[in-house]
Amino acid sequence: MSTENVKQAVKEKYGQVALRVIQGRSSCCGTAPRLEGCPDPITSNLYDGSQASQIPAEALLASLGCGNPTALAELKPGETVLDLGSGGGIDVLLSAKRVGPTGKAYGLDMTDEMLALARENQRKARVENAEFLKGEMEDIPLPDNSVDVIISNCVINLSADKDRVLREAFRVLKPGGRFAVSDIVVRGEVPVEIRRNLELWVGCMAGALAEKEYLAKLTKAGFEVVSIEPTRVYRVADARELLSSQGIDVDAIAPLVDGKFMSGFVRARKPTPSS
Ligand SMILES: C[S@@+](CC[C@H](N)C(=O)[O-])C[C@H]1O[C@@H](n2cnc3c(N)ncnc32)[C@H](O)[C@@H]1O
Repeated sequence: MSTENVKQAVKEKYGQVALRVIQGRSSCCGTAPRLEGCPDPITSNLYDGSQASQIPAEALLASLGCGNPTALAELKPGETVLDLGSGGGIDVLLSAKRVGPTGKAYGLDMTDEMLALARENQRKARVENAEFLKGEMEDIPLPDNSVDVIISNCVINLSADKDRVLREAFRVLKPGGRFAVSDIVVRGEVPVEIRRNLELWVGCMAGALAEKEYLAKLTKAGFEVVSIEPTRVYRVADARELLSSQGIDVDAIAPLVDGKFMSGFVRARKPTPSS
């Protein structure tokens, strides 16, 4: 698939997801079309009660992440945060509360329906220090050196040009700025055919990088202190239904795939002139 085709497919998929939420139905990645009323093992139970109580129910319903970047990133009052692929806006609204009235949280998304949903959630949450921008993370519509922290939740894996996303993230971060992103990551070797089927399962998250590849790309983009911390490791049992429905002998492949996909928290820093 060309980069443009990937973007078009992603836009259509998330446009439909946003409309489902606007109609009062749940979002969901993974096997969502067949499983009405998920939670699925990837997006479920990511936010605790104290976070959920700060945002409108619709923002939580629209959550399509695979982690909780605002819980793991250290956000300080007065900072500027940018969320790549902000979806229904959950992490932007939580960030805006953390950085307070002297700070600002931007959400960036390319899908009109998601932007509409996020802006409506912002209105309901009465959050004023947030702004949702239309655009692509491969071409971020913000100036150089303007952001303290980049967060993202299960979006970079969707890009067909991850090097470009990481270069753009590096460009907009201030020196010393932090990259603090939740993403799906592949650990070790997974046979190509099986990987394709697993990516089907993770639906929203196809295109995951291997751990080593991710770290190498961050370093190539100029980042330092790069690391990936596992936050949720997926077991073959989580994907059993989908793999069986594809005619795959799950027990036979279990040793090859069990625990090979994980949600990880990816950290990196833009160097300062003195570092
Ligand atoms: C898996 S959802 C995650 C949404 C949100 N981060 C969350 O945790 O609920 C992916 C979102 O990223 C957006 N997206 C995907 N690729 C993008 C790109 N290249 N540039 C900007 N937004 C993108 C989609 O429109 C969608 O809203």
